[in-house]
Amino acid sequence: MPDVDDLKEAKNYCADIPQKNQPFFLKGSGALDWGMQNRLARIFNPESGRTVMLAIDHGYFQGPTTGLERVDLTILPLVPYADTLMLTRGILRTVIPASTPKSIVLRVSGGTSILKELSNEDIVVDIEDAVRLNVCAMAVQVFIGGEFESQSIINMTNTVNAGTRYGLPTLAVTAVGKDMARDARYFRLATRICAELGAHYIKTYYVEHGFETVCASCPVPIVMAGGKKLPELDALTMASKALQEGAAGVDMGRNIFQSEAPTAMIQAVRAVVHKNEPPAKAFDLYQTLKKQAKA
Ligand code: R5P
Repeated sequence: MPDVDDLKEAKNYCADIPQKNQPFFLKGSGALDWGMQNRLARIFNPESGRTVMLAIDHGYFQGPTTGLERVDLTILPLVPYADTLMLTRGILRTVIPASTPKSIVLRVSGGTSILKELSNEDIVVDIEDAVRLNVCAMAVQVFIGGEFESQSIINMTNTVNAGTRYGLPTLAVTAVGKDMARDARYFRLATRICAELGAHYIKTYYVEHGFETVCASCPVPIVMAGGKKLPELDALTMASKALQEGAAGVDMGRNIFQSEAPTAMIQAVRAVVHKNEPPAKAFDLYQTLKKQAKA
C-alpha cells in the first residue's frame, strides 16, 4: 500500500514550460501511432536516422542458398553488427536466440519457389503470429508489372491493414521481374504505389541514374536492397551513393553473408551507413578487419 500519511505536497508543475510531444523524426512517420513509431525507431537508429538491415530471408523461395546453409553458424556472428534482422518465422524460431536485443522484420509473404512463377505469392503468416513473435515490422514482396501484380499489391495492403490494428509497420519490397527495366522511372512507379497504398517504408534497388528522384518522390523512407554479390568495394560504393542520394539505410543480404569476410563486411557497411564513411575508407576497414580475423 502506498503511504498516505505524511504526503509531500507536489509543487514541480513548471507551469511556464510547455509540454513537448516529440514524434519520431523518420520521414513520413510523424502521424503514426506511438507503437508504430516506437517500432520504426527500433529499426532506424534514432541517432543517425538510418538502418543496417541484414536480409537472410532468401530461403523462403530459394532454399539453402550460398552462405545460408547453416544460419546458426554463419549468421549469428554477424547479428551484433546489424540494427535489424529480416528473416522468416522458421529461422527466427529455430535459430535466433530469444534474448536478442535486435529488432526483427518478419517476411510474411511467400508461397512460391524458384521453380515456378515468383510473383504468385500470398500472405503466409497471421498477424497474430507476427505479434506473438514481437517483431518490429512485416515484409511483403510487391511485383509491380509482374504477372500477379494485383495479388501482390493486395497482399501488401492486407498486411498494412492488419498491421495498423496492432501498430506493426509494413515494409514493401519491390521485386523486379526478369524482363523489366531496372531504371529510376520503374522504381519511382513501384515505390510510390507502395507508399500511396500504405507501406511504412520500402526496400528497393539502387540505380546509377536518378536514384535521388526515387527517394524524393517517395513519401516514406527507402532502404537500398543489396542484390547479387558484388566485389566488396563496389557494394560499399553503391551503399554510399544510395545514402547520399536519399536512402535511409540498407537491407543487404548476399553482399554481406557471401563476402569473403562477412563480419568485416558488415562492419564496413555499418561505417558507411552510420558514420558516412567514404567507400574507400570503409573498404580499408574491411581489409583491416579481414586480416585481423585471419591472424
Ligand atoms: C527477395 O527478394 C528478398 O527480399 C530477399 O530474399 C533478400 O532480402 C534479398 O537480399 P539481397 O538481395 O541483399 O541478397
